[in-house]
Order: sequence, then structure tokens, then C-alpha cells
Amino acid sequence: MAGSVEGKQPDECPLAGGIANAGQVVRSGSHVLRPSTPHTESIHAFLRALRAAGFDGAPEPIGIDPNGRERLGYIEGEVPVAPYPAWCQTDAALRSVARLLRRFHDASRSFDPGDHCWSDALRDPAGGPVVLHNDGELSNVVFRDGVAVALIDFEFAAPGRPIYDLAHLARLWIPIDDASDQERLGFEPADRPRRLRVIVDAYGLAPEERADMIGALDDAMDRVAAAVRRRLEAGDPNFVDRWRHTDGAERYERRRRWWEQHRSRFVDVLA
Ligand SMILES: Nc1ncnc2c1ncn2[C@@H]1O[C@H](COP(=O)(O)OP(=O)(O)O)[C@@H](O)[C@H]1O
Ligand SMILES: [Mg+2]
Repeated sequence: MAGSVEGKQPDECPLAGGIANAGQVVRSGSHVLRPSTPHTESIHAFLRALRAAGFDGAPEPIGIDPNGRERLGYIEGEVPVAPYPAWCQTDAALRSVARLLRRFHDASRSFDPGDHCWSDALRDPAGGPVVLHNDGELSNVVFRDGVAVALIDFEFAAPGRPIYDLAHLARLWIPIDDASDQERLGFEPADRPRRLRVIVDAYGLAPEERADMIGALDDAMDRVAAAVRRRLEAGDPNFVDRWRHTDGAERYERRRRWWEQHRSRFVDVLA
């Protein structure tokens, strides 16, 4: 049949919530199939190492199908989709996400990324030894009973500093975004700087590292804006479509303005 993926199974159901691979991630029984990249084999080696280190908060890597799709274990639970429901915006949910990231980093330290290849798209500009997730947004976290149990979507994993990964998670979950975008995504009014404090406390960020958090947030925001620009220049249809729906470059400018206006309050809560 024209347009069908060779080897496609009749029981495949599309999974909602994704961005980079919107429409191309499907569930097939107890597995998930999604497009692979030149980094998928490295990611699977990493996911195997996480399991060997006793971390169960990431998908089981099954392999790469002959048609080129990666096959992962499906993780039962709920994944927040915008407009984000109230249950994923509580302090308890936020704390559980930060704790999950900490457990992930602790397990990741056992893996040597040296002989593998990783995505450059969101890689920590400062480099570092620990493989990070780099895209801890709401639609990449599986919950059960309001508690974050797994990270999914390791496409942008790459070595770096754990604080840089924490910054990506924080910017997405606080969120650091203009008020109109917070509302569009369904975020309820909240004390945003306080949410940063909840995240770093639950993660257990060492007192001497807290001063580096604002710089890591700057790095994470610059990196994501540059990555989106590159995907647009390359004509990626998912990004072109999203760009149209979110006022394009203006969205990043208003986020930057919001951050500059509120930055000192975020500095204060880390003191
Ligand atoms: N292993 C998995 N277990 C459970 N749900 C998954 C899994 N992988 C993907 N999903 C669901 O599919 C959605 C899109 O998958 P994702 O890998 O995040 O794609 P994208 O790269 O487009 O963001 C996720 O938001 C989640 O709801
Ligand atoms: Mg995703």
C-alpha cells in the first residue's frame, strides 16, 4: 500500500503528545515504535546500562526493526499532554519529577559514553561526563498515581553536566515562559521562582552548585532556541507547523523578555 511503512503491524495505534516525531510514534502491544536516528544504537546501549545499574525509570530497549524503526518497551501510566491538567502541576508531582531525574543521573554515571555517538541538537555547550536526557518536558515523563515513574524519548541524550539537564527540566516544568504561553499550555497561576526552589531541593542540588543554576538555565534556553532555528532552516515540517501556531520567533523573544524581568527573583530563591 502506498505510503505504508514496510513491516507495519495491524495493531499499531498512534501515540499523542510528541513533538519532534509527531504522528510517527506508535504503540504495538507492549512495544513502542518510533523513527530511529544515527544515535539510536548508542541510546539503546545506554538504556541497557541504566537497567544494569538498577534504574527502571526508562524504556526497555528491544532493538531496531528491519524497516529502521526503533522498538522500545511501552511503559504503562499517564503522560501529561497540553493543555496540562492540574494533577501534573502540583508540588508533589514536581518533586517526584526532580527526584526521578536525580535517580536517573545517579545511574547514568556508571556508563562511559566515550565510544558512542550522540545528538548535538541540545548537547550541553560546556560538555561533561554524564549522559543526560536533555529534554525532560512534560510529555516525556510517565506518571502513575500522580508520581513520575519514567523518562521516555531519549532522542536528544548526550554527555554533559547534570545541572544542565536539571535546567532543561526546570525551564519546562516551572515553566520559564511568557504569561500568555503559560496560559496557552494550561499552566495555572503559580509562584514560578518557588517552583525552581522545589525542583532543586527535591533533586538535592548541593549548596555549592546552586549558584551555577541560573547560568545553566541560560545555556539551556539558548541551546533550545538555536536548535529550533536549525530545524526550521532545515524545513522540518513538525517544527514549521509549530512555529506558525506559536508566533514563531516572537515566542522566543517574549520568553527571553519574561526571563529578564523575573530573573532576580529566581536568583533570590536559590540563595
Ligand atoms: N516507551 C513509552 N512508553 C509509554 N508511552 C510512550 C513511550 N514512548 C512514547 N510514548 C508516548 O508517545 C508520545 C510521543 O513519544 P516521544 O518518544 O516522546 O516522541 P516525540 O519525539 O515526538 O516527542 C509520548 O509523549 C508518550 O505519550
Ligand atoms: Mg517526546
